[in-house]
Amino acid sequence: MFNGSLTYGEVDMAAFKELLSQADPKEGDVFYDIGSGTGKALMTAAAFFPFSKAVGIEILEVCFFFPSLAYLPYAVKDLHEAASVVIEKGQSALELFACKNVSAVLHDSFKYDWTDGDVVFAAATCFDDEMMAQYLDKVLKLKSGARIVSLTRALTHPELRLAHNRRYKYAKGAINAFVYVRL
Ligand SMILES: C[S@@+](CC[C@H](N)C(=O)[O-])C[C@H]1O[C@@H](n2cnc3c(N)ncnc32)[C@H](O)[C@@H]1O
Repeated sequence: MFNGSLTYGEVDMAAFKELLSQADPKEGDVFYDIGSGTGKALMTAAAFFPFSKAVGIEILEVCFFFPSLAYLPYAVKDLHEAASVVIEKGQSALELFACKNVSAVLHDSFKYDWTDGDVVFAAATCFDDEMMAQYLDKVLKLKSGARIVSLTRALTHPELRLAHNRRYKYAKGAINAFVYVRL
């Protein structure tokens, strides 16, 4: 049976970097990507922001095992070149990452503990209402001051303050993005 929540889409790295900066990542913060797919958003977060830990959680093996690490050196190289940083021959892309502690787990995000997250991202575009309810439930377990970055679907709760809302480039089009602060 087709499950719409597993429909695939990926962030545009440059747009995602810009969006994530709206969540004001701070040195030592912990980052999670809820439904990390092949790791494009995860690696962008790790490349550019000084997280102490960046974790992707993905439910589908086919996405999880897709070798994002194989293409990411090239993608990150492009990004760093765009930022006027040249990768020397033999230098690993990971050396240029602001966060060196990057990992991915094959797990259902709604059954995994990510309550230590300071910045949590979900491309919630394909989340159905039941998933949104589960997601909100988990988000409310985050500490006060945590920032939640969400695509397409808004989160409405008195303990979440909307800090930013704008459209960003995504895949071949544009997408509505929200940044909330957990009160
Ligand atoms: C739209 S893709 C986003 C990929 C990546 N975060 C990005 O924005 O580039 C959503 C991903 O969420 C995954 N997903 C859906 N439900 C999930 C769940 N309950 N736990 C973990 N991952 C899930 C899908 O398999 C898919 O890879």
